[in-house]
Amino acid sequence: MLKKLFLSVVLSCTLLGASADEGMWLPSLIGSRIKDMRKKGFRLTAEDVYSVNKASLKDAVVLFGGGCTGEYVSEEGLLLTNHHCGYGSIQQLSSVEHDYLTNGFWAKSRGEELPVPGLSVKRLVRMEDITERIAAGEKAQDIVAAARKEGYDAAVEQMYYGNQQFLFVYEIFRDVRLVGAPPSSIGKFGGDTDNWIWPRHTGDFSIFRVYADENNRPATYSKDNKPYRPARHFSISTKGVGEGDFTMIYGFPGNTQEYVISDAVKYVAEVSDPMKIALRTKRLDIISAEQAKSAEVRIAYAAVHASIANAWKKWQGEVLGLQRLGTVESKQAYEKKFAQWAQSKPEYASLLDSMRVAYKGVEQEYYIRELYSESVGTVSVFNFARTLSAAAGKEGATDESIKAQVAKFSADYNRTIDEQIAVEMLGEFLQRMPQERLPEGLKQDVESKGGAKAYVEWLYSATNLLSSDKITLQSVADDVMVTFAQRFNPIIENSRKYAYRNLSNVPSIEKWYRPYMRALREWDKNRAFYPDANLTLRVAYGSVAGYEYADAEYHHPVSTIDGIIAKDDPNIYDYNIPQSLRDIYAKKDYGRWGVDVNGRYSVPVCFLATNHTSGGNSGSPIINGRGELIGINFDRTWRSTMSDIEFDPSICRNISVDIRYVLFVIDRIGGAGYLIEEMDLK
Ligand code: ARG
Ligand code: ASP
Repeated sequence: MLKKLFLSVVLSCTLLGASADEGMWLPSLIGSRIKDMRKKGFRLTAEDVYSVNKASLKDAVVLFGGGCTGEYVSEEGLLLTNHHCGYGSIQQLSSVEHDYLTNGFWAKSRGEELPVPGLSVKRLVRMEDITERIAAGEKAQDIVAAARKEGYDAAVEQMYYGNQQFLFVYEIFRDVRLVGAPPSSIGKFGGDTDNWIWPRHTGDFSIFRVYADENNRPATYSKDNKPYRPARHFSISTKGVGEGDFTMIYGFPGNTQEYVISDAVKYVAEVSDPMKIALRTKRLDIISAEQAKSAEVRIAYAAVHASIANAWKKWQGEVLGLQRLGTVESKQAYEKKFAQWAQSKPEYASLLDSMRVAYKGVEQEYYIRELYSESVGTVSVFNFARTLSAAAGKEGATDESIKAQVAKFSADYNRTIDEQIAVEMLGEFLQRMPQERLPEGLKQDVESKGGAKAYVEWLYSATNLLSSDKITLQSVADDVMVTFAQRFNPIIENSRKYAYRNLSNVPSIEKWYRPYMRALREWDKNRAFYPDANLTLRVAYGSVAGYEYADAEYHHPVSTIDGIIAKDDPNIYDYNIPQSLRDIYAKKDYGRWGVDVNGRYSVPVCFLATNHTSGGNSGSPIINGRGELIGINFDRTWRSTMSDIEFDPSICRNISVDIRYVLFVIDRIGGAGYLIEEMDLK
């Protein structure tokens, strides 16, 4: 009964709500948005977006690897995603002789396409609301098992903090091959400098092809496999889009928390983000300084640096954005109004109080988990010490196997960097931990040697962990580095209990969100509710738009090749473009990709739109009102990263690479125009 009521509330809310461009909608329920979408310029139907009875756009979208999106652009399984999503694969296939990261890669024929071991893509076969079945006593694992029997992969996902359950049935393809990638000087143009920034000029794309068996079914790699024939692929618009034009993004956003109460926002903005930013600043400073001294170190640490810097920069934008919006205060005001309404409802009257108590009980533990994993947990030698001691404890371990592990670890171990990080992170940990929760004796030991720096120096001088000559199976357990690393075991153990997506998802807190979400929907009838992102397939829609952040500081939504040339500088690593691009520019030799952009003959590169996206939406198709591909989503502006908590339609913008720039690079830089022939250009 309660559930029934809940469902009817869902429907009425989604029909009423119309907050501009906010929202990540479940494809199977897109019918509730379709009127609004069509009003804004969408020409297709709900069935075109998602259908279980016929091919629909969802069949052209995949979860790429563990956390990106990809889309089919030909009937022979050609797949587009971002360069930063394909990065790991491209790196894995590269060697000193074949440096595809630096030089790019273009398969000249099907035979040259390179299988990527370990890479897979997932297509959503169908999704199903199973809330009532679960409520009636069916077990989630039985429902999943039944779907697996059909030969699929399946998972049950919670929506609205467990108020609704959906079954997601997937087909997993494991024969995925690299077809093309631009050189990093295009695919990663702007590097970490431009990351999260507008104006942007990154050609952030790479190309893969999915292969299947002779029945077009998923199969592990075999040279006999055939290009997969997707039920649906995107046709491509070469006409471009202009300000105000409808856009839709179809993809797999990973994590948002739009409904959390002010306590949770306070934790993010005042406790968690600032701590993580400060610790990452220290690590980045150490790594950057060493990178500046040596080209070898710069390359070896490029991916590490990029991944530390990516979230580091995002969190800074998030904190600023939440402050600017006054999210804590506006949520407090919202909660006050809610409390007034709830006063007379026995089932909800004490809800907020219960939630606050729950946060108080968990926050410190969650913080300790985050603090550990951002500090001491980042030191490779400590992690290796733990791995080695586990290995030494296993049956069959020998002196040789231990020595081999040490030799392997030492081979590419950068002690200069790791030791400095160990010193800084140990110091930070000692200082930031609630003192009564520090591992016993840790502080005294560190102080007895004169502080973190001297202590870490002593650890390195006394350990045999970095010398395969000295280490033996026997000596592992008593090695100083091992005993030191194990002091943190209780913290690691305890942290496991708090290993949830967000603080608010820890069960003792999350259980209160179930009634809270129900109450919100009863009370806030005009709000458009959509479930928080959880790496399930979603639709977001909006329009191409610039933004004005500060007075008179308007940002145009379209960047061009002229902007690349303006940034070009052979002496700056992030801005050093291929000579071929300079040559093309000098002659304005754009071929069929040159167009008029605001009165200039140029090539459009990236554009902004108002779609609500999150991490995981990288690589997502961005389409026009006719469902044609106009670009590939890859980022948001820095000023809009708080959209994971509060979406501000006036400045939140996603960034896409214009499909015409993608085609231009394939054709003019890659010389791989033959790939374009299998696409449907409109
Ligand atoms: N900011 C983008 C996202 O969150 C992409 C980052 C990859 N590029 C980089 N320079 N780190 O994933
Ligand atoms: N760059 C992100 C991704 O990789 C997208 C975003 O956070 O906007 O998914």
